[in-house]
Amino acid sequence: MASIGIIGGSGLYNIMENVKTIDVETPYGKPSDKLEIGEISGVEVAFLPRHGKRHTIPPHNVNYHANIWALKSLGVERIIGLNAVGSLRDDYKPGDIVIPDQFIDFTRKRRLTYYDGPDVYHISMADPFCSEISSASYNAGLDLGYKIHNSGTYVCIEGPRFSTRAESRMFRQFGDIIGMTLVPEINLADELAMCYGMIATVTDYDVWSEKPVDTNEVIKIMKENEEKVPKMLSKIIPEIHGQRKCKCSLRLENAKA
Ligand code: ADE
Repeated sequence: MASIGIIGGSGLYNIMENVKTIDVETPYGKPSDKLEIGEISGVEVAFLPRHGKRHTIPPHNVNYHANIWALKSLGVERIIGLNAVGSLRDDYKPGDIVIPDQFIDFTRKRRLTYYDGPDVYHISMADPFCSEISSASYNAGLDLGYKIHNSGTYVCIEGPRFSTRAESRMFRQFGDIIGMTLVPEINLADELAMCYGMIATVTDYDVWSEKPVDTNEVIKIMKENEEKVPKMLSKIIPEIHGQRKCKCSLRLENAKA
């Protein structure tokens, strides 16, 4: 049983050892791809590529329900989400790492809950991210000497298009970083009383700066920084492994209507 799950863009082949691949079916259909179970720093983890192994699933078509359910069914209690994000502020620069602590949901057509009735739950989202994963992630980045920011509000847009300049100016009033996949990944994990923490790598200045973001730029910066996140994970995973001390497991208490 893997108690830690990682949802990422590209694979973690360079740091996962003793990898085996498993096909998981859920009541919500198939997850984005087969799951990989392997070891990082001697701890068993499950890895799932959010957009599929060949990057064939755009953000608005990811089966977030199946992805989170599949991890839960393998015994995962803690999820680390990896994300490429745009920056909405000058001092969060391409190549920097951000550990977000809040989000604002600007998605439009996604299914947002497991609880469609008859059981009705209203889960608190006041503090959506797991404090234990977040502080372990921040400390890992600091130890490695990376430029890392300990907080940030993630604006989640529907995509797959990038924002207009007017939208970007508006989002700058609301948040610090922008991406397309945090919601509903985080709220579904929270609804199952799982921990969710995110390591976001800044790839661009969105479209509020002079040169608007394009996909090539995002991929180029991701490639230049691709060794950072695996190095962080090798430190974070042994740190968070074991009994949970955070409050994430209590999310369903007092939430049933
Ligand atoms: N992912 C990476 N950069 C982004 C941006 N500028 N907007 C939305 N998603 C992104």
